[in-house]
Amino acid sequence: MTGSLRAAITGVGSAVPKRVVPNAEFEKTLDTSDEWITKRTGIKERRLVSEGETTATLAAEAGRKAMENAGITAGDLDLIICATVSPEMPMPSTACFIQEILGATDVPAFDISAACSGFVYGLSVASQFIETGKYKRILMIGADCLSQVADFTDRGSCILFGDGAGAVVLEPTSEPDKGVLYSVMHANGGGWDYIHVPAGGSRAPTTLETIDQKQHFVKMRGRDVYKFAVEKMQWLLGDCMEKCNITVDDVDMVVPHQVNIRIIESATEKYNFPMEKVFLNIDRMGNTSGASIPLALDEAVRQGKIGPGSTVMFVAFGAGLTWAGAVVKM
Ligand SMILES: CC(C)(COP(=O)(O)OP(=O)(O)OC[C@H]1O[C@@H](n2cnc3c(N)ncnc32)[C@H](O)[C@@H]1OP(=O)(O)O)[C@@H](O)C(=O)NCCC(=O)NCCS
Repeated sequence: MTGSLRAAITGVGSAVPKRVVPNAEFEKTLDTSDEWITKRTGIKERRLVSEGETTATLAAEAGRKAMENAGITAGDLDLIICATVSPEMPMPSTACFIQEILGATDVPAFDISAACSGFVYGLSVASQFIETGKYKRILMIGADCLSQVADFTDRGSCILFGDGAGAVVLEPTSEPDKGVLYSVMHANGGGWDYIHVPAGGSRAPTTLETIDQKQHFVKMRGRDVYKFAVEKMQWLLGDCMEKCNITVDDVDMVVPHQVNIRIIESATEKYNFPMEKVFLNIDRMGNTSGASIPLALDEAVRQGKIGPGSTVMFVAFGAGLTWAGAVVKM
């Protein structure tokens, strides 16, 4: 029987910080403008954490809402996975903090590090546990607070990031054509320096110099990332449709990594995806990394743009370099 099981998304939830930071805030400290940021990225504002808000608190709130939406409680969980590259602490995992906040005593918990592809990587990993029958209820969360590792003197990167968390509950279904129909993951470590935080790990442990030289902040080759992102998003859209034997007409909604409106438009134009089939919240959220896709998914569900029976495609890419996609029938 386990051979016919698929992982279905039975609950969604999200959480964002209270503080709204419009583009105009950056005009006060950087040589930039609301007009430049809006035109080049599609971002108008983002949410950034303040006192008392962290990756784990946002993740736990998103997780709690997803469980409520699925009609389950922490006691029902078999596994918690958190995709993040801005963890609560370097050690232990953010998933363990989430487990503690939710009161999911003894439930296994671990993190996935695949940057902006993290949630889709996690969806693929979690699906395997469900398909094999190993676990029945998995809380899969994407959460990031990149504002905590962003260099607010670097106008080429800090304007992009927002903080937040999104979560789904995954449960088995044996209904045909429901759940995670397809998932794909890729990586190219040769591009590690496209987006990275140089210090704080074993290669460059924390010293006064690494702090002084701002080596604990995100370094990004923006233009190179842009080209990589368009190429991989196009490839993922094509691969997902080909492997599932579907066309643009069969897809109800693409939920792309909310990276940059120009990247998303360039990629989706290749297949003539009408923009009403592409869910966007980048104007209000910015790039929330691992949270981006589940946060957008939750909004799309709450707005009634995605519902039972919808065929949804997730496409993501990020530091690593990593890229990942999935096709889900809700
Ligand atoms: C970062 C990004 C918005 C820059 O936009 P762009 O159109 O590629 O701009 P460029 O890097 O070519 O820079 C053009 C000019 O704008 C300037 N610029 C960069 N950031 C700016 C800002 N916030 N405000 C004003 N000017 C800015 C550059 O310094 C450059 O000036 P120059 O021509 O005098 O050298 C864009 O490359 C991007 O979105 N890349 C992907 C990054 C990303 O999404 N990373 C996360 C991936 S998961």
